[in-house]
Amino acid sequence: MSGHSTYEPKTGIERWLDTRLPIVRFMKDTAIDFPTPKNLNYWWTFGGILALMLGIQLVTGIVLAMHYVPHVDHAFASVERIMRDVNYGWLLRYMHANGASMFFLAVYIHMIRNLYYGSYKAPREVLWIIGCLIYLAMMATAFIGYVLPWGQMSFHGAVVITNLFGALPIVGEPITTWLWGGFAVDNPTLNRFFSLHYLLPFVIAGLVVLHIWALHVPGNNNPTGVNVKSEADTVPFHPYYTVKDGFAIAVFLLLYASFVFYNPNVLGHADNYVPANPLVTPAHIVPEWYFLPFYAILRAVPDKLGGVLLMFGAIATLFVLPWLDTSKVRSMRYRPTARLYFFIFVLAALVLGYCGAKLPDDPVIGAATGLMLLDADINSFVWLSRLATLYFFAYFWVILPVLGLTETPLPVPESISEPVLSHPASTPAGAAASPEKRG
Ligand code: HEM
Repeated sequence: MSGHSTYEPKTGIERWLDTRLPIVRFMKDTAIDFPTPKNLNYWWTFGGILALMLGIQLVTGIVLAMHYVPHVDHAFASVERIMRDVNYGWLLRYMHANGASMFFLAVYIHMIRNLYYGSYKAPREVLWIIGCLIYLAMMATAFIGYVLPWGQMSFHGAVVITNLFGALPIVGEPITTWLWGGFAVDNPTLNRFFSLHYLLPFVIAGLVVLHIWALHVPGNNNPTGVNVKSEADTVPFHPYYTVKDGFAIAVFLLLYASFVFYNPNVLGHADNYVPANPLVTPAHIVPEWYFLPFYAILRAVPDKLGGVLLMFGAIATLFVLPWLDTSKVRSMRYRPTARLYFFIFVLAALVLGYCGAKLPDDPVIGAATGLMLLDADINSFVWLSRLATLYFFAYFWVILPVLGLTETPLPVPESISEPVLSHPASTPAGAAASPEKRG
């Protein structure tokens, strides 16, 4: 932990506790006095937003679990009961379901911020890897959570995704049987999914503690990507970033509330309001929006095993990213060429999400652009997914390693303070000359 402690216990009780469990000292040093780069922008508020969303998911989930019944004969009805009869049950459920979406929205912004500013690079590799583990645990939690209401999409989604493991040679079948707790998605599956859905958020909470610990050893990165050189580069976390984070949280909660109160089902799927029926498969099985890019990668490959491997490969790639990017410069602010490829990467991820939501035989783009001519049997969304998948992997495995060695970055400032202090508006004369910079 950087900096020395400034905590001085005032009362006898404080002194007594401080020599036995210095928790007040720890909190003051890490959450109040912690020296934080003074140039963090609003993209750095998403860590705090994520912590809040995790808290909301835990609290609403625990209360929902008091009324939910994890049995195939009662699960659907118990959710309807929560919606209609439990006091504020509708609010709890809508907060939890939309909370999951907001959690993923925030985590994607958080991850993209890290990609742009090179926050995964040394000395923050462990911090990044813990983040990747959190992301994996979030995906597992969200997937099994969606199964719990036991609607049509819950059931058939569970069948499709658990069956993917069956594509693995030799171990595939035993793994699927083990996941199901039998020979099909049934009551034992629902039971274990409920148990794990309760457990995993606490695993995530433990990982978040490690995440913040690993953050506090090297300290925050910042928009310049330059290391903190002196005290002049930092401000105490409180009040500067407690206030900034607080404002961002308030704005984010407005967006969250607009979904919960005005459009609570827009992110869900109507089929999940139909009780699960193993004999009737929905016309179009789609996962929740936050899984769509991976779903598109999966379907981009004509071979099941190939698709599964590529999909897991996309996630595995994130884990090794700190060693793929060879650039000495962290922030893309000073890497104009890399920045261009980065924006194309974000576009490719969005295209994958778009294609993931489309039916494989959806003719819209094909009809409009004639792309379908490429192959009469394969639709243009599949082609688009293939292109975007190719770019996804090329970005990490080819573009970043090569660019780091070949590009010429812009001059990087000496310190965090330098670009601010050397700006004409920072001197009294400069400030007078450029009135628009004042205030
Ligand atoms: C429950 C989910 C998560 C929580 C609560 C969380 C929390 C935080 C907090 C509070 C910070 C410091 C403030 C900030 O930089 O925004 C942070 C930084 C960071 N997080 Fe996360 N995080 C989560 C998920 C992730 C994921 C999924 C990744 C990457 C895959 C990740 C990677 C990082 C990195 C590299 C930093 C350092 C940023 C910097 O200093 O530039 N985090 N996180």
